[in-house]
Amino acid sequence: MTDKYAVIGNPIAHSKSPLIHRMFAGQAGQDISYEAVPAPLDGFAATVERLREEGYKGCNVTVPFKLEASNLASYLTPEALEANSANTLTFKDGAIIANNTDGAGLVRDIELNLGVPLQGKRVLLMGAGGAARGVLVPLVFAKVQRLVIANRTLGNAQEMLLHGQRFHEDLPGMEIAAKTYAELRDEQFDVVINATSTGLTDEMLPLPDTIFAPGTLAYDMMYGRETPFMKFAREQGAAIVSDGLGMLVEQAAESFYIWRGVRPDTKPVMAKLREKT
Ligand code: ATR
Repeated sequence: MTDKYAVIGNPIAHSKSPLIHRMFAGQAGQDISYEAVPAPLDGFAATVERLREEGYKGCNVTVPFKLEASNLASYLTPEALEANSANTLTFKDGAIIANNTDGAGLVRDIELNLGVPLQGKRVLLMGAGGAARGVLVPLVFAKVQRLVIANRTLGNAQEMLLHGQRFHEDLPGMEIAAKTYAELRDEQFDVVINATSTGLTDEMLPLPDTIFAPGTLAYDMMYGRETPFMKFAREQGAAIVSDGLGMLVEQAAESFYIWRGVRPDTKPVMAKLREKT
């Protein structure tokens, strides 16, 4: 019998997740269906309930429901607990298990696809909203040497800092700090990650032009077009400039692995999506 999965969001019509998961299933010869399911803003829990009643095995969750998904779950994996947000729900034995694969997706894209090991690196994470929180702890666990969280509203970055510090205590030699953009003037980074929503609105962050070290990777978690941050990074000589398409595919692969126990080959899927964008 076909196992049913879905992605829930609002809006959801343009989600690439159905295409990605169908390609994964095709590779692995797995008999699954996967569809995009819209939920009204006040109807996430009811939509999850409906899917469970209809025998779905699990679902992905995207904007704006990731926090609600972690609150709804019966069990949280450490990744979902750390991020206070879930993008993967598994329906099993009457329970809802919540996971968050965004951070693993980002780390895998940077390390495996782009070939930049994070261990020992100076990393700048820009933003302190849901997207940034989802990847904070996996970056700490990747044993970066220095992690700076920069944000327009310093208080939000400081809150994230407190959370990150709980996890970096056992990693001697690692530094973690919160700053405003203006305070980045005296620092250089090996990896600069844009987790703000400025790509959506085509705004540029007030970044000093001194932050890129030779060989820097500039990574924008948005995908589909060049953001003002990516353009700026290119102009400032960043060695590698990447959008977040690889992260999208890798977080999906982690979900697929959780549900199906098979690790998909992400490279041909990324290539296919690049053809289409
Ligand atoms: P998401 O779920 O995409 O992370 P969010 O939780 O609303 O969305 O967070 C948006 C992030 O982008 C925040 O870090 C926000 O900064 P503030 O905490 O100061 O609000 C950041 N952001 C949005 N517009 C921005 C802009 N014009 N300049 C700088 N940062 C911006």
